[in-house]
Amino acid sequence: MGMLDGKAALVTGSGRGIGRGIALTLAEAGAKVLVNDLGVSLSGEGEEKTPADQVVDEILSAGGAAAANYGSVADPAQANAMVEQVVDTFGRIDILINVAGILRDRMIFNMTDDEWNAVIAVHLNGTFNCTRAAAIKMREQQGGRIISMSSVSALGAPGQPNYGAAKAGILGLTWSTANGLGRYGVTANAVLPSGATRMIDSTPRGKAVFEEAGKWPSELARGTEQDPDNVAPLIVYLASDQAAHVNGQAFHSYGYGYTLLAQPQAVARVVADRRWDPEELARVFPETLGKDLAPPPGTAFGKDLDERPAEEWREVGQGIRFWQVPGEGR
Ligand SMILES: NC(=O)c1ccc[n+]([C@@H]2O[C@H](COP(=O)([O-])OP(=O)(O)OC[C@H]3O[C@@H](n4cnc5c(N)ncnc54)[C@H](O)[C@@H]3O)[C@@H](O)[C@H]2O)c1
Repeated sequence: MGMLDGKAALVTGSGRGIGRGIALTLAEAGAKVLVNDLGVSLSGEGEEKTPADQVVDEILSAGGAAAANYGSVADPAQANAMVEQVVDTFGRIDILINVAGILRDRMIFNMTDDEWNAVIAVHLNGTFNCTRAAAIKMREQQGGRIISMSSVSALGAPGQPNYGAAKAGILGLTWSTANGLGRYGVTANAVLPSGATRMIDSTPRGKAVFEEAGKWPSELARGTEQDPDNVAPLIVYLASDQAAHVNGQAFHSYGYGYTLLAQPQAVARVVADRRWDPEELARVFPETLGKDLAPPPGTAFGKDLDERPAEEWREVGQGIRFWQVPGEGR
């Protein structure tokens, strides 16, 4: 028996990269999958049907159930049509995975309106368009799973103000959806994925790897910690009935590990018995709220966890180990 037997899923942007691995793994777990992909370049240009068709073929030849959709998540009517197609083809929609994405990296001072709008349109509006359409059906069905790709870039990647803002927006959208739909048996969670796809090939680090090794990171990744397919097992679990209690959470998928992000929490507060005078605040701030301020982690998030002392890790067996923040816990 598969963990997702009988479930119907929509995976946006699943013709390539991380979405492709998710679509194939959901199908392997028994889900019927609508493979959506507009088939665009990394910056969102050109359109082709081949990426979605190829993934559908792979699923069908492995004995699974799948159909293709070539619409754009950025268009509300096409997003609605995707969800309708899942219901028309498979009878219902149990799972929505928001993966479709593009990049138009630029520093904030150089960014054009087009670069800003295009990235917000696909990532943030696209996630909203598909989530709204699925939420209508899932609320009626009294159940469902929505999992959306955010990114560590939301935590402060300097050259990605458009992408970082969209990915931070997806966290807010996920938390709002989780609190709004929990009562209907629908969960919404976010994943900050990673994996050497063409997105990573396009970065300065990706280009440096090509110059040194003669191969792109995406070509070297298969079967390693950088394999984009490493994200999929977490998605299958979150999409399953067994994860009914997991709602409004964000996980970083990195290497062969999954990291739970802390909920935003208050860490310091200073209070007066009257409205503050700015001069007074300037005097008190450095030794109170302003003490030991850390910059946002950006893409360095979570990467130093493997260097935590051995005694902080617990062996769970079968090559699995577990760490959680020492002291009072989470
Ligand atoms: N690769 C990483 O390390 C990484 C890190 C953090 C977040 N992410 C996020 O994970 C997701 C997948 O990234 P990837 O690296 O696999 O990228 P990718 O470029 O390999 O795949 C993205 C797919 O989305 C499709 N797409 C683009 N615009 C679309 C639209 N409007 N409608 C439908 N499909 C569209 C593209 O055609 C492409 O096949 C993205 O949301 C990305 O932001 C990736």
